[in-house]
Amino acid sequence: MVFQTQPKIFISRGEIAKAVNRLACEINKDYQDKQPLLICVLKGSFMFTADLIRQLDLPLELDFVRLSSYGAARESSGKVRVVQGVKTPIKGRDVLVIEDIVDTGITISFLLDYLKKKQPASLKLCTLTDKPSRRRVPVPIDYRGFTVPNKFIVGYGLDLNQRFRNLPDIYTLED
Ligand code: PRP
Repeated sequence: MVFQTQPKIFISRGEIAKAVNRLACEINKDYQDKQPLLICVLKGSFMFTADLIRQLDLPLELDFVRLSSYGAARESSGKVRVVQGVKTPIKGRDVLVIEDIVDTGITISFLLDYLKKKQPASLKLCTLTDKPSRRRVPVPIDYRGFTVPNKFIVGYGLDLNQRFRNLPDIYTLED
């Protein structure tokens, strides 16, 4: 692994596993009589989604959406693009969106508005990490793994210029 600055494990794989387990318990309970449609927001949440759904004892369906607002930058451009839309019909479904991080909130807010227009029966959000100090638009978070401070984090799906997504722990590149 090649970091330019000294990397520090910020959230270990063990802590991640515990959080995933806790979130899965909550989701299993809340959706016990339902057949939710989970939407994985690519690319960042692929690893979290894969771990989470293996612990969900529900007749769920899974679909993917790919949005982009950061490009190669560390700051959101503020403009969200749909790179790949959801193929599964949303109307009347219990939709649960799975994110890796809510930072400014611009990306997820755009996605929630886009999905709401398709008239789901319910719409909830599960995010592994939440960085509230950076929020620019309010976001209702139903399931939250970790609240994190204003540090750039990578690993477990999260990237910097498309790198480090494969790391099993979450690292910070700053002190
Ligand atoms: C990241 C992340 C969230 C979004 C959060 O996606 O996965 O979707 O940024 O930032 P925000 O709250 O400030 O909008 P990115 O656009 O980097 O794409 P990626 O998931 O493919 O890495």
